[in-house]
Amino acid sequence: MKNQEILGVDVGASGIKGAIINVSTGELLTERLRLETPSPAKPDSMAEVVAELTKALSYKGKIIGVGFPSIVKNGKAMTAANIDPSWIGTDIEALFSKSTGKKVLAVNDADAAGLACVHFGVGKGVKGTLVLITIGSGLGSALFSNGYLLPNTEFGHIRMNGMIAEQYASSNARKREELSWEDWGVRFNKYLLEIERILSPDLILLGGGASKKFDLFEKMLDLKTKVKPAHLKNEAGAIGAAYYAAVKSKEKKKS
Ligand code: BGC
Repeated sequence: MKNQEILGVDVGASGIKGAIINVSTGELLTERLRLETPSPAKPDSMAEVVAELTKALSYKGKIIGVGFPSIVKNGKAMTAANIDPSWIGTDIEALFSKSTGKKVLAVNDADAAGLACVHFGVGKGVKGTLVLITIGSGLGSALFSNGYLLPNTEFGHIRMNGMIAEQYASSNARKREELSWEDWGVRFNKYLLEIERILSPDLILLGGGASKKFDLFEKMLDLKTKVKPAHLKNEAGAIGAAYYAAVKSKEKKKS
């Protein structure tokens, strides 16, 4: 991909983060700025924060890539697990284009983080089945077969112990129930065993905020599959969103 600088934005339930990315190397060309996600996390107020972030980074480019915490189909949010329900059916690309004055391309946030890992991080060149699980307010997932993404897998929403997995094993669950890293690690291991059972992956990568604390829960993980923290950690979402926008806008130009 030719040297291109694109703003990547990672929309999360608690923070909206962005940086200008060199999409041929995956490097950050600016600091990574983080603004609070408004509460309630409604479309119009979030669109304003994305515009504020764009301005604060003095972004002059035409395209913005956005990683969004829901199923994203044709630029629209189809679910709203950790954001306001009024997002369901909202055209993320049209709304953020209006507030920023740029062309916006949106992708699921975990898929964005996965793209960063596979193109610029520890997932590069991995053959077979790779799954990335992001641990944050929710549990996000990205599934790759020989480097190709199967989008919107939502493995954070499989059922476990009579509830949705992310209610049992996300960072929010750890904080809400005041679990130690060890106790939470036991739960997270159970979750990963389910992922292993249904996918037989060749590699599991962990991303999101909690992956920075990998050393605190690593000893609780007992799987056949190799598990590694995704070294791009919290920056992966913004890097992958920018990369996605670069690839997608090129595809759109061709068609
Ligand atoms: C959402 C996913 C998202 C994940 C991480 C889940 O609640 O359903 O779409 O990827 O949280 O933000």
